[in-house]
Amino acid sequence: MGFEQAWLDYARKISCEGTDGIEAVFVGIDDDRQDILIKNSVAELQKAFAGLFGRKLAVHMGTADGDGICLLFREGMPAEAYHVYENGGKITIEASDSQGILYGVFALLRQMQTGDSLRGLDLTKAPVMPMRMLDHWDNMDGSIERGYSGESFFFEKNEILVNERTVTYARLAASVGINAVVINNVNVKDAATRLITERYADKLKELSEVFAGYGIRLYLSLNYAAPMELGELQSADPLSEEVRDWWKRRMAFVFGQIPNLGGFLIKADSEGRPGPFTYGRTHADGANMLAEAVAPFGGTIIWRCFVYNCQQDWRDEKTDRARSGYDNFIGLDGKFLDNVILQIKNGPMDFQVREPVHPLFGGLTKTNQMLEVQIAQEYTGQQRHVCYLIPMFREILAFRTYAAKEHDTVEDIVCGRTFGQKNCGMAAVANTGNDENWTGHDMAAANWYGFGRLAFEPELSAEEIAREWIRLTFGKDKQVEETMLYILMNSWKAYENYNAPLGIGWMVNPDYHYGPSVDGYEYSRWGTYHRADHLGIGVDRSSAGTGYALLYREPNASVYHDRERCPDELLLFFHHMPYTWKLKSGKTVIQHIYDSHFEGVEMVDEMVERFEKLEGKLPEKSYQRMMERFAHQKEHAREWRDQINTYFYRKSGIPDEKGRNIY
Ligand code: GCU
Repeated sequence: MGFEQAWLDYARKISCEGTDGIEAVFVGIDDDRQDILIKNSVAELQKAFAGLFGRKLAVHMGTADGDGICLLFREGMPAEAYHVYENGGKITIEASDSQGILYGVFALLRQMQTGDSLRGLDLTKAPVMPMRMLDHWDNMDGSIERGYSGESFFFEKNEILVNERTVTYARLAASVGINAVVINNVNVKDAATRLITERYADKLKELSEVFAGYGIRLYLSLNYAAPMELGELQSADPLSEEVRDWWKRRMAFVFGQIPNLGGFLIKADSEGRPGPFTYGRTHADGANMLAEAVAPFGGTIIWRCFVYNCQQDWRDEKTDRARSGYDNFIGLDGKFLDNVILQIKNGPMDFQVREPVHPLFGGLTKTNQMLEVQIAQEYTGQQRHVCYLIPMFREILAFRTYAAKEHDTVEDIVCGRTFGQKNCGMAAVANTGNDENWTGHDMAAANWYGFGRLAFEPELSAEEIAREWIRLTFGKDKQVEETMLYILMNSWKAYENYNAPLGIGWMVNPDYHYGPSVDGYEYSRWGTYHRADHLGIGVDRSSAGTGYALLYREPNASVYHDRERCPDELLLFFHHMPYTWKLKSGKTVIQHIYDSHFEGVEMVDEMVERFEKLEGKLPEKSYQRMMERFAHQKEHAREWRDQINTYFYRKSGIPDEKGRNIY
């Protein structure tokens, strides 16, 4: 078993009461409404029953009256919702659209594989986030920006791939409720600029049809300067009539060729990418120009707020990268067209192991918003360390912004509950590649699975999601489940412990972002500093410093602004503190640094010790693959611990109270 099917592996035999009598599928859906989604739903049931029980399900068309699994439409249910229930041994899957039927099928299969019985089953679910998206940072030469599990399975040598793996990918994504996928890197260069030309139209159409069969809309990242880079215009000024016409014509062509296309994701005026700033125009000008061009085709423009000055002078203590997203977009609130969604990273910096929530959440009240997280573990161990990120995402979603009296959390905002927006949701930078097991570390698949499940049902806990994934992937063995759960649920905390302390972030090797380097970014142009000296560490983001803390709504602003009230885990993000400062935990900053780093390593040791006991209980190949990574993580966590502890011991001259080994 190579894990090519990840959590949809039907080769594992299961036992689930109530499945024995199921011999057939009854499709009680009129012929003219039986689209490819319904066909794929039936095919999935057949595939699963063949694999799980060696049983061939018969298919009866045109009736929902029979013993087995019945699929039928019921008017009045919300879009994409399903109702799955058992009655006298008969299973019914109802929805008002075929996407709901497909999700219902996957819910039933999940229940069969994770539960003990189908008796009394009664599940009704409606996804609350309209947009549940994966953003792939795949380049057309086959490489993946921040990819840690092999090469791209969408592109190779500037060609688009559509094959068996594409189908498996679509099934996996749909099984957890993903309904939108961007296939190419936000940094659009070279061949990728041509994705909107004739050159790739046929293949994209083919791909979009595979996706559509699983309820997934294809999206592309767009090069803002395409009219120039394709050699057709001298300018990309969003207010120029010539440029606007160009985009209208181009979009008419693209949607004519690829009618299933959902729209585009744009990174503009960021890290060297072109954008409207060149012409003295705003992001609203740029986004709206494109939004107008795609509107006739029902297209959506997703515009990223990851905009900052990456040419900063490290000597400059007033400019603050953390402020830049907010400062660039807050004044544009309400100025974007309805088919524009702003995509906002979860924190103001860049996917660090700990950051405050982005202040645009709660700041913007009249603009469609989407939360962007990263399951590619760029800064969280690059899929060599285990780091289950769903607990972090849960915290982010639960963050109270105080943007409204009620329904004011990030979750409320991106579900459309706060401001009543319909264009909103959540996107994750994807963690997949062409590695046999998709995600490099077998346990990193829990982040892919978990992201989808969380976006579909944000009320699920990180633990519930982890248990599901473990059972689906490794079966229902108590010891396996408890061990894997222990590892997953402790992994983020462990990583945070041996990483940069107290929310400061960035102590990584520049460029590739792996492994400790305390000063790696300290004298660089990237705006990512810790400002440590012999007395203290941290960035002053109070009003005496960059003022960033005041960008939040009250009471968040006052809490962050006040070093006495600021939560420990973010203290150094918001304040420059002496090493001798007493945290709420009762420890000094320096002692916290030492203790957390020793603890982080101990946590990893404990995880590995427990994991080793699973030998023989997991598929051999998978066990070996994980063991190799755990061995590396053990060593590498020590490297983190020792470099960080030693650095701060040498800087501060303050010894560890417990007299442990620091160099
Ligand atoms: C990070 C990452 C880049 C990426 C950028 C983005 O900075 O390191 O590779 O392009 O984020 O989100 O656009």
